[in-house]
Amino acid sequence: MSRSAHPAGPRHADVLPEGHYSAPPADLNALDPKVWAQTVDRDQDGVVTVGGMSVTQLAEEYGTPAYVLDEADFRARARAWRTAFGTDADVFYAGKAFLSRAVVRWLQEEGLNLDVCSGGELATALSAGMPADRIAFHGNNKSPEEIERAVRAGVGRIVLDSFQEIVRVAHIAQSLGKRQRVQIRITVGVEAHTHEFIATAHEDQKFGIPLAGGQAAEAVRRALRLDGLEVIGIHSHIGSQIFDMSGFEVAAHRVVGLLKDIRDEHGVELPEIDLGGGLGIAYTSDDDPREPHEIAKALTEIVTRECEGAKLRTPRISVEPGRAIVGPTAFTLYEVGTVKPLEGLRTYVSVDGGMSDNIRTALYDAEYTVALVSRTSDAEPMLTRVVGKHCESGDIVVKDAFLPGDLAPGDLIAVPATGAYCRSMASNYNHALRPPVVAVREGEARVVVRRETEEDLLRLDVG
Ligand code: LLP
Repeated sequence: MSRSAHPAGPRHADVLPEGHYSAPPADLNALDPKVWAQTVDRDQDGVVTVGGMSVTQLAEEYGTPAYVLDEADFRARARAWRTAFGTDADVFYAGKAFLSRAVVRWLQEEGLNLDVCSGGELATALSAGMPADRIAFHGNNKSPEEIERAVRAGVGRIVLDSFQEIVRVAHIAQSLGKRQRVQIRITVGVEAHTHEFIATAHEDQKFGIPLAGGQAAEAVRRALRLDGLEVIGIHSHIGSQIFDMSGFEVAAHRVVGLLKDIRDEHGVELPEIDLGGGLGIAYTSDDDPREPHEIAKALTEIVTRECEGAKLRTPRISVEPGRAIVGPTAFTLYEVGTVKPLEGLRTYVSVDGGMSDNIRTALYDAEYTVALVSRTSDAEPMLTRVVGKHCESGDIVVKDAFLPGDLAPGDLIAVPATGAYCRSMASNYNHALRPPVVAVREGEARVVVRRETEEDLLRLDVG
């Protein structure tokens, strides 16, 4: 459909309805390196390439929608975190952001550890050969079976989340004749500046044991008494998609305060602290994330300073970035199916995926950008809403975005920064088939998670 085929459509900034957008970008064909994976570029025909592969080639070979992951970028980001923290600290990639066996192998090769939070993630990690002692096992309600499996496998740490779990893990470990290394997850009472659903250090939510009222101290007291446990440290995760370092600083301050209290009461200096993940990434050009080396410097300095003040040996620090490693490395490639201008409002662009491959917009009001990637265009910017094909009006992928006014069915568009919490939170709503993850590197593409098929769906339907 050409631009002139829908002249009633909203064109640009003079009549803009309410929304998140600012003005249309100066150049709609430009790809801001802040939000696109490192090797993304356009070739001489204007087609976007990544890892040396063009999106048209990828769409032809693997279909759409598809998550396209830049392996070199993933490895570079993993390495940047590893290098920034050096040998006195551990980086645990948070598998919940996106986990597959290929990712587990890349992590091993780049020297990272892995945080898992379910039996399924643990199984994936072990099946791809991650040494168990480099795995941290999380979760606020691990089942006895999951705990037993983790203890038997010999995971490096289990992060305890409740009083019941302290006893449960101790009991299981003891019955297996083992002493399990554990950390105790506390809530430090920080209000992280992020969406309510992904903030985790305030007290009125399900994770961790509150520092307030001496509960965390009591948890440590109980854990230290149990033979099945070796308490190696304290864990704090304040939330996700956070840009402001002050929340981490307050958390570090309070965690070290607890270490001091533990030393004073028990004569024990716990050797480790984990400050969790949660560092924000750029979803749009307005976001300004911190670099791993800045984060490492800030966290290390504050912990060292606080420990000096408390006359404690500086504990070994660990962190658990998920989004900050995988988020920027992938984009979702869609084909445009329909273009529907609504006079005085905006143009609805329907793609062949939707809330089943990216629930974040509907769930957190997340912001994304989008670009036409199968060609360039000099057409005027058109205010659009990119929507999926599900039977639900909240099925929105990108709430407000400018795309070229000549956008037409068959064009390929891509939404960047979808590496984290998109495939891992994908659903089969409306019996959608979850898209593949295609890893590209140096001119080669490899499916690391294949597209679901109708047989996959029907295999579960045994009625
Ligand atoms: N460590 C712990 C204990 C966590 O709970 C999480 C995330 C992380 C590390 C990794 O956080 P990251 O660095 O990826 O922000 N589904 C939401 C995010 C939920 C995060 C849950 N926990 C989203 O799509 O934004």
